[in-house]
Amino acid sequence: MQSRCLQFAGLFGVIGLAIATWSTSPSQAEPLPEKDLDWMVPNSGWMTKESDRIPIVFVSRATAKADWEKLPKYWNEVTETTGANAGRKVVKVKLPLGLGVLPPVPAENPMTLGKWKLGKQLYYDMVLSSNNTVSCASCHAPETGFAEPLKTSTGIFGKKGGMNAPTVMNSAYNSKQFWDGRAASLEEQAQGPPGNPSEMFSGTGAAWPDAIKRIRKNPEYVAAFRAEFGTLPTRDAAAKAIAVYERTVLIGNSIYDRADLAMRVRVEEEESAKLAVIAKDYETVLKDAISKKDDSALSALGLTAQAKPAEISTIAKQISEGRELFFGKARCSLCHVGESFTDYDFHNLGIGAKDGKLTEDQYGRVDALPTGHKNDSMIGSFKTPPLRGLVSTAPYMHDGSESTLEAVIELYDRGGNINPFLDSKMRDTNAEDEYLKAKAEGKEWKGEPVSMFSPNGRPVIPFKLKLTTAEKAALVVFLKALQSDPVDPVVASH
Ligand code: HEC
Ligand code: HEC
Repeated sequence: MQSRCLQFAGLFGVIGLAIATWSTSPSQAEPLPEKDLDWMVPNSGWMTKESDRIPIVFVSRATAKADWEKLPKYWNEVTETTGANAGRKVVKVKLPLGLGVLPPVPAENPMTLGKWKLGKQLYYDMVLSSNNTVSCASCHAPETGFAEPLKTSTGIFGKKGGMNAPTVMNSAYNSKQFWDGRAASLEEQAQGPPGNPSEMFSGTGAAWPDAIKRIRKNPEYVAAFRAEFGTLPTRDAAAKAIAVYERTVLIGNSIYDRADLAMRVRVEEEESAKLAVIAKDYETVLKDAISKKDDSALSALGLTAQAKPAEISTIAKQISEGRELFFGKARCSLCHVGESFTDYDFHNLGIGAKDGKLTEDQYGRVDALPTGHKNDSMIGSFKTPPLRGLVSTAPYMHDGSESTLEAVIELYDRGGNINPFLDSKMRDTNAEDEYLKAKAEGKEWKGEPVSMFSPNGRPVIPFKLKLTTAEKAALVVFLKALQSDPVDPVVASH
């Protein structure tokens, strides 16, 4: 705080100097000032005129169907023909089917094409790491679903972190970032890795100030920051630019989404049809994917363009059954809800618990809660991840401990890993109540033996799903049917 105040006191003097020195195009003869590396007051003379900026807007089928249907592809650079902005260029991002809600954008960081390009360049640039060896893409590469195929991350000097890299895909929708939710936004999150000694920071010097000094040595970057933010490169502006890029890393249009649409069409056509997706809808969209040679959707399900009708109908039935289980008997939708299949909340499934005990590094969400607000129910809790890109983001869970989807289903079938803080949604609370009642009445407990108790004395009885082999298989096929189209090449290309 103190340093921030000091910074502010000296700010106008320094800006004055900066403006005097840098009011024309940046010359590399003199080194740039090594001050105000965090944030600067913008100089309007440097900034691209508002009317010349190209805004990026999201268009979803749910909120603007006619406009959405007209857009030919994901990334559309168009000129507005009507309204107050007629004649102005704009990028319209056609949200993939299934994403009806527009990604929230903070008021202080409106989306523009210029910022997006700058953010994209920073995302793939090693300059953010102390020794120019690691970029964001080192751990969140497009080729591996914007996540990492490793159990836990490898960063600078080959150092191992303790966490599995979550995907950046659709992270635009996360209400909190990181497995423990310690960052409130993509802007805040992006400031983490460059200062993290097991990710991008060598541990000597000052992580961010040094990174910004390196960026200021590149005249192209200096020109881009001046144009977009009206400042020299700063930490604030770099974080904003990266976040603008990340907000466009979006996926949808899975077989599941297409079947949902097929169901709506079927209901419109057949008067007696009921508003629910059935195997027939999955069959329709699978056949359609085959005729369009949509390899990515088909290969996620182990299908090829040569698939026989019988094979297609078997898979369609499995997806349909898996869907019923997901929203019913298997209780997945207690936590995996909505368009991204997450409640954005935190739950303890006992991942990382050994012999019923959690180690200190597995406390999760409770560590991120401020002192005075620690909530015992958050001990060992981690963020519910979205489920739209699972085929490309193995291994799974915050510590990468489950290598396959089959293993994930086995974990849920046994009610998670038992520990004193197991989430209430993972527990057989009825059985727990009966146990307490029997004890209170001095009766013998006839259910499964109880070996674990919460600190409040409540027994911990995991909810066993008791799924059959066929049901487990159907759930896995359903998860694969959530696999979305790959990120659009305009966004995913380096
Ligand atoms: C060395 C590997 C590594 C590098 C480099 C790295 N990340 Fe990450 N990233 C991770 C890991 C591991 C996590 C999860 C850490 C945690 O939750 O404590 C993570 C979390 C995230 C998240 C949160 C996603 C979610 O669902 O909560 C985002 C977004 C993200 N990183 C973006 C970036 C950006 C942007 C950069 C570059 C500035 C970057 N990462 C650099 C490994 C890395
Ligand atoms: C009590 C809430 C809850 C329920 C119920 C639940 N999940 Fe999860 N799920 C989570 C949380 C939290 C995680 C991350 C846990 C961790 O890493 O510590 C997770 C992780 C996953 C992952 C790994 C994703 C990744 O990217 O690593 C998959 C797959 C998954 N769940 C599928 C399911 C399925 C299928 C069901 C139903 C059988 C289900 N979940 C039921 C909360 C839940």
